[in-house]
Amino acid sequence: MGFKLAIDGPAASGKSTISARLAKELGWEHIDTGSMYRAVTLIALEKKINLENESEYSFVKDLDIKYHKGRILVDGRDVSKEIREPIVNENVSLVSSFPSVRRELVTLQKKAASVGNVIVDGRDIGTVVMPEADLKIFLIASVDERTRRRYLDFINSGKVVDLNKVKEDLQIRDKKDSTRKESPLIKADDAILLDTSDLSIDETIEAIIKLINDKRGE
Ligand code: CDP
Repeated sequence: MGFKLAIDGPAASGKSTISARLAKELGWEHIDTGSMYRAVTLIALEKKINLENESEYSFVKDLDIKYHKGRILVDGRDVSKEIREPIVNENVSLVSSFPSVRRELVTLQKKAASVGNVIVDGRDIGTVVMPEADLKIFLIASVDERTRRRYLDFINSGKVVDLNKVKEDLQIRDKKDSTRKESPLIKADDAILLDTSDLSIDETIEAIIKLINDKRGE
């Protein structure tokens, strides 16, 4: 049996960056579940379905969605870049609120997480996808720090964005993710809260590795 690490938290709290770096350092598998909800959102936009209508998402069960080493593939097509577009950010919380969409993706995620040492990041990992995880971390950071990080992500990928708009989008998404009926963003009772507002990426990784080692030594 491998070690199962669940990392949950609000938008731009650093889950994906930290999980990817940790996975590389430890040689573990990483599954970024947010990228799967983003991929479904992208395809729904391309198909021009009525995004508000849950019954139009029946296409999801026929999609072949794979996440591996930082790339997300849908039916063999690499959509890693497109899923970070603002239009996807704006719609992903709506798409991920539908129980039927979540059911399909959670089944996929549980299966992907069932082999060896794995880090899974998202919103409902400690509560729904891997309630049996060996270690659960709930990563948070102040809204201003999260805004700064997401703003820099956009700037570094060559996009022109307004800082206030980035902040507003994060807050809207947090609110939707935390208040939805189905699997809302919530800290599992047994998750460890880690505030990264004043921590660098390296410091965060160090803190998590220490928690993993403590857990293994128990
Ligand atoms: O990277 P960022 O925190 O901005 O978002 P993400 O992890 O890529 O997730 C994008 C969106 O997918 C979230 O805002 C949620 O609406 C949804 N999501 C979810 O509902 N459940 C998950 N396990 C992961 C993401």
